[in-house]
Amino acid sequence: MNGGLKIKILGLVGSPNVNGNTAKLVNAILDGAAESGAEKVICNLASLNIKGCDACGRCQESGCCLIDDDMQEIYREIETADAVILGSPVYMWQITAQTKLFIDRLTAFLKPNFSSRLDNKKLILVFSQGISDRDAFKPYFEYTAGLLYYLGFDVLETFIAAGTDKLDVSFRPSLLERARELGKLVSTSPLSSPEFRRAESSLTPPL
Ligand SMILES: Cc1cc2nc3c(=O)[nH]c(=O)nc-3n(C[C@H](O)[C@H](O)[C@H](O)COP(=O)(O)O)c2cc1C
Repeated sequence: MNGGLKIKILGLVGSPNVNGNTAKLVNAILDGAAESGAEKVICNLASLNIKGCDACGRCQESGCCLIDDDMQEIYREIETADAVILGSPVYMWQITAQTKLFIDRLTAFLKPNFSSRLDNKKLILVFSQGISDRDAFKPYFEYTAGLLYYLGFDVLETFIAAGTDKLDVSFRPSLLERARELGKLVSTSPLSSPEFRRAESSLTPPL
């Protein structure tokens, strides 16, 4: 609870599979948060009309993007959320194109001096990948977390589901349970990122 108000957790899924691995993981985190009393909101970025940034540059002064599409609603949701859960499958070693469109539009949160208008909003990154080696894209995941930190998010954790080509996350109850535990933690914990990571790793066994 936040001054008597419900904590709001926003889930954003950048997969065209609206019920795929990424969506299941993000939903499990949201469910855990809801069990702790948080309000949950989920949006599938791939189902929305989100255009690419057109580089007009006008958002830098005003903080408002002028493109009239579904991103306007997402800006509002991010501004009013206490924490964001951003999930993407790995496509060609990277985030999906739909997730990239969304991230480019976050430029509206940067001021002319490139500091962020967001005040260290909590964020959990979620990736799902076909191959089993969970370290295969580690440098890329760290790089993405660094980018989101630069944009004004306090990246608490990067949650990875590896090996989905062999086993869909639906058949991995311990992974989904770990995601739910993470949701409970993010909705109740005022911890900074290193403290959060320590608490999170002591809560549940490694994947
Ligand atoms: C176009 C495309 C590219 C992909 N590229 C990779 C890849 O580079 N590495 C990998 O491990 N898995 C790759 N995958 C597999 C997905 O990451 C994996 O199936 C993921 O769990 C899908 O998530 P979803 O069910 O949420 O869509 C790719 C899948 C597609 C459709």
